[in-house]
Amino acid sequence: MTEHVTHVTHPLVQHKLSIMRDKSTPTAVFRQLLREISHLLAYEVTRDLPMTTKCIETPIQEMDAPMLAGRKLALISILRAGNGLLDGMLDLIPSARVGFIGLYRDEETMEPVQYYFKAPERIRDRMVITVDPMLATGNSSVAAIDLLKKAGAKDLRFLCLLAAPEGIARMKEAHPDVPIVTAAIDEGLNEKSYIVPGLGDAGDRMFGTK
Ligand code: URA
Repeated sequence: MTEHVTHVTHPLVQHKLSIMRDKSTPTAVFRQLLREISHLLAYEVTRDLPMTTKCIETPIQEMDAPMLAGRKLALISILRAGNGLLDGMLDLIPSARVGFIGLYRDEETMEPVQYYFKAPERIRDRMVITVDPMLATGNSSVAAIDLLKKAGAKDLRFLCLLAAPEGIARMKEAHPDVPIVTAAIDEGLNEKSYIVPGLGDAGDRMFGTK
């Protein structure tokens, strides 16, 4: 990917996202739409995957058929909201290896603190796509990428649904080598670091919690 930020403006993505933003949209519909949008975002974030060919036999004749090259992708979900994007990504890339990163915010320092980290083996040889629907302050995404780089990851991408300009700037400063794919770039953050206009708390909307 050549751009640092790819904004996916496809009409289907934008239509589904608007329904998700609406506070009257029920949990089950929200979750289903997130899954559908993640298919379309998966298409975008993987559009330049390396390819090879394999000789196969169709019922008619032999051919050199295009196939994905290299090791299986690694998908890393930032808990817990990342799991909503992860499910749809796995529909399209079922052979991907999956990792999880758990972070919470220290209420005194406001810094992200890691409580869980599990990455697929040989992460240095894989394309690694980290998923989190909301790129808000960028603190957790920067911390997640820090951890993945420490584990050896070199070919990284970040996939989200909504991004705030503040989060994009923070990621660009800390990890300029990590392209971001997003369905929307919103106005900014409010005093509680929620994305405006946003869609509220993605985890709560997805899981029906408060
Ligand atoms: N996380 C969310 O779930 N929503 C926001 O608006 C910002 C961070």
